[in-house]
Amino acid sequence: MRSNRQVSPGFYLLEAELPIRPDRIPRAGQFCMLRSWDSIPVLSRPISVFDAQGSRVFFLYKTVGRGTAIFSRLNPGDSLTIQGPLGNGFPMDLWSNAPGRIAMVGGGAGIAPFYLGAKQYRGAGCTVDLYLGFSGAAFLTDEYRDRADSVTVNVGGRITDEIDPTGYDAIFTCGPEIMMKALWEKCKACGVGERIFVSLEARMACGVGACYGCSKQTAGGNKKVCKDGPVFPAEDVL
Ligand code: FES
Repeated sequence: MRSNRQVSPGFYLLEAELPIRPDRIPRAGQFCMLRSWDSIPVLSRPISVFDAQGSRVFFLYKTVGRGTAIFSRLNPGDSLTIQGPLGNGFPMDLWSNAPGRIAMVGGGAGIAPFYLGAKQYRGAGCTVDLYLGFSGAAFLTDEYRDRADSVTVNVGGRITDEIDPTGYDAIFTCGPEIMMKALWEKCKACGVGERIFVSLEARMACGVGACYGCSKQTAGGNKKVCKDGPVFPAEDVL
């Protein structure tokens, strides 16, 4: 582990070394299973990939329990076990002709996938507008501004009030379920419900589809958040 800095109370940005095969470069919305302990807690923790630069991988996380509290006390040089990247990530194949215009709507630690997302989708020729919501102080907004076509920030209110979904070919969201549901309702009311994709959070044990610990009822039957997701069309899961 190379660095681990607090970016806001309860939120940390961790940088680690991860030898990555060229065909396994992390995509926006993928995650890794992290652990920095031997046996207790039993489970590794699924953490979204925030950025990837060569063999340097970055994770933005919030301290919400025992595992993430342990991460927050790590120092440069401490060892960290990383399994991944895992999961499907946000779809990259939505546009058959011209690249689209995308809104990425994140709340709290749910802004994490959109730092890499803005880089990758703009790199593919898309226009990317970011909408970042915070319940406390905003953080990393200058870094996000360097990557996107526009950044809208809302502190203490509802980021979903800031967006007109009809202007976008696709809307990606990650964060508190109440925020993602509000956005889904807004998209449906605007007649663009099929354009929104959500990244779900779940407790995970294996992270690779082997234990059924993260099963989720969807319109298409039971799916595993870790392997079939964590990104799903909103109309399948909300
Ligand atoms: Fe084991 Fe998803 S965590 S199947």
